[in-house]
Amino acid sequence: MKNKGWEIFKNSLNYLGGGSSTNSKIPNFEEEPAILIKGKGCRVYDFEGNEYIDFRCALGPVTLGYNLPEINSAIIKQLENGVVFSYPHVLESEVAKKITEIIPCAERVRFLKTGGEAIAACIKIARNYTKRKKIIHCGYNGWLNCFDTGGISAPGILSSSPLKGIPPEISALHINLQWADFEKWERVFKEQGEEIAGVVIASDYKDIEKGKEFLPFIRDLTKKYGSLMIIDEIVTGFRVAIGGIQEYFNFLPDMAVFSKGIANGMPLSIYCGRKELIDSAKEIGISSTFGGETLSLAASNAVVEFYKKNNVIKYLWEIGQKMWSGVNNLFKQYEVEAELKGFPVCPFFDFKNPEERNLFFRKCFKNRVILYNVGYVCYSHKEKDINEALEKVEKSIKEMKNGSN
Ligand SMILES: Cc1ncc(COP(=O)(O)O)c(C=O)c1O
Repeated sequence: MKNKGWEIFKNSLNYLGGGSSTNSKIPNFEEEPAILIKGKGCRVYDFEGNEYIDFRCALGPVTLGYNLPEINSAIIKQLENGVVFSYPHVLESEVAKKITEIIPCAERVRFLKTGGEAIAACIKIARNYTKRKKIIHCGYNGWLNCFDTGGISAPGILSSSPLKGIPPEISALHINLQWADFEKWERVFKEQGEEIAGVVIASDYKDIEKGKEFLPFIRDLTKKYGSLMIIDEIVTGFRVAIGGIQEYFNFLPDMAVFSKGIANGMPLSIYCGRKELIDSAKEIGISSTFGGETLSLAASNAVVEFYKKNNVIKYLWEIGQKMWSGVNNLFKQYEVEAELKGFPVCPFFDFKNPEERNLFFRKCFKNRVILYNVGYVCYSHKEKDINEALEKVEKSIKEMKNGSN
């Protein structure tokens, strides 16, 4: 395909490993935009200037929209006063205080930059606190924490081969269990409960409703065996509810991690929880030069206010429902063996046939609708954007069914 964006991407393979620092952003199909240059609201633009309605939302973090004036101005205002400092900036404690008010388990808060890094911090805290070694994972918890064979290499994607670069001695300390497999969890705890420092659970988006019973069940199990419960709210936080799945299903983990969504795309992660646990981070030596970087904190400050003022969560549920029930209706109407399952704020595309999935996605890309395994919406998706996107999705399905280009 003659396309300057693809040319740049292919050339980049000579100096940028894999063509992107984020595996899930590497384009696979020629219909995809190989290179993006800007975004506005719910739309992004490729190198040729083509406009797409975007349902990837930067893989989740853009919950309000690209290039939003309210958030931009908070970042710019802070930029004029400096980015990082040699002592804590006042924003660090201000945002921490706000977070303790909106996240149920957050007695204390600390900041890092990425989700995986914050999960690694919680794992270290859990091992130190319990003086135990083993960790149970459920779902994808960031590349830094992919220690177990047969684990998850990207959200929703099971690793097809044993994970590479991990000594077996380390891998042996990590166990991967499935969401809502009540029996297996009970059995593993019965056999190894005294060795388990903590469990790290990311929700399974397509079966997320099962969390209602599963998460309180794990809460009881971990309490019974003296293990810590760590909830990965990287996707669910600021989407399912501001306070994530713990708020939605009303349970209290010992620690939790939030990242995507808390700063509308600025690089920030939060690990939070019981005060004695988060306070111990200092003595353990968990620390990062950029932990209190102020542009992201200023963005997060503005994001929290924006969420409260505009009831963003309610809106995400409504607009997500409109979009994804619309796509599900089209699947039914045109007899596509697929369904978006789970909550409308982060549903998962479940296709019977992976080839049909690829074809569907390619047609949608071609018609300028960007999709991902998880269907993300943001506050900038308005009714007219959804109507336009659904028309384009219908056109894509028709093309897929009649084999036209
Ligand atoms: C549920 C979940 N946990 C952890 C991570 C890792 O976050 P990061 O890529 O910021 O390290 C991701 C990223 O996709 C995620 O979706």
